[in-house]
Amino acid sequence: MRNLNQDTITQAVIDRFADTPDPRLKEIMTSLVRHLHAFARDVKLTEAEWFQGIEFLTRTGHITDDKRQEFILLSDTLGLSMLTVAMNNDKPAGCTEATVFGPFYVEGAPEYELGADVANGAAGIPCEVRGHVRGLNGEPVPGAEIHVWQADAEGTYDVQRAGLQGAQARGTLRTGPDGEYHFKSILAESYPIPHDGPVGDMLEATRRHPWRPAHLHFMIKAPGYKTLITHVFRNGDKYLDSDAVFAVRESLIADWVRQPDGSYLVDYDFVLNPVDGHR
Ligand code: BEZ
Ligand code: FE
Repeated sequence: MRNLNQDTITQAVIDRFADTPDPRLKEIMTSLVRHLHAFARDVKLTEAEWFQGIEFLTRTGHITDDKRQEFILLSDTLGLSMLTVAMNNDKPAGCTEATVFGPFYVEGAPEYELGADVANGAAGIPCEVRGHVRGLNGEPVPGAEIHVWQADAEGTYDVQRAGLQGAQARGTLRTGPDGEYHFKSILAESYPIPHDGPVGDMLEATRRHPWRPAHLHFMIKAPGYKTLITHVFRNGDKYLDSDAVFAVRESLIADWVRQPDGSYLVDYDFVLNPVDGHR
């Protein structure tokens, strides 16, 4: 194949994938090429702009390590993460909605008894979190694994705090006989996503802010139910309608109620989706 021009190159590249044995890979590569070329044509991409894009992706790779995942951040800020969550988490009405996982989950967080303080010294205003985990028909889900993680009052997760040994404001608990859970932690506050890298530069160049509304992260696992990955967002937060990663859902917003002693209380019930769909 020679003398390809801007009208013939797209089909030539697609044809080159014709022998891909995995049909799904073939479909993905074909569509990727089609859309990538359409994008370049759409904006009439210049060579300088193409190179700027390559430099951006190179910087994204260089800043990524086992603690900093700039590619996921890029996907999050372009709405691709939330689009993928939305397309893959269709649930029956009444189930708790899913939202993005985010980059700050850590496997092997400490296990706590119900009622324990998972803050473990993290800075913040004391807060109690409680509720129930139920199935779609209202049945309690005892023994469900609840993984929770959150940022501290400074807006950082423990894994972002240099030199910190051990988990803070994250932990694993199990629901009691009635599917109930409760634990102590700190007040969730809004915080900016890491913006000192190429994704931050992109946000600044496009006059976007890096803030996420205050939230708690939850992952809930129980036999017979699909794993739920979600957040609970704090009602009243000024970033609820402009989350930097597009992850807010109305049904995930809860009231953090101030108590007479200045601490906070949030009550939120989760509804899990049965694996077989008709439990
Ligand atoms: C988070 O909520 O932890 C998060 C989600 C997406 C990007 C950065 C942080
Ligand atoms: Fe978060």
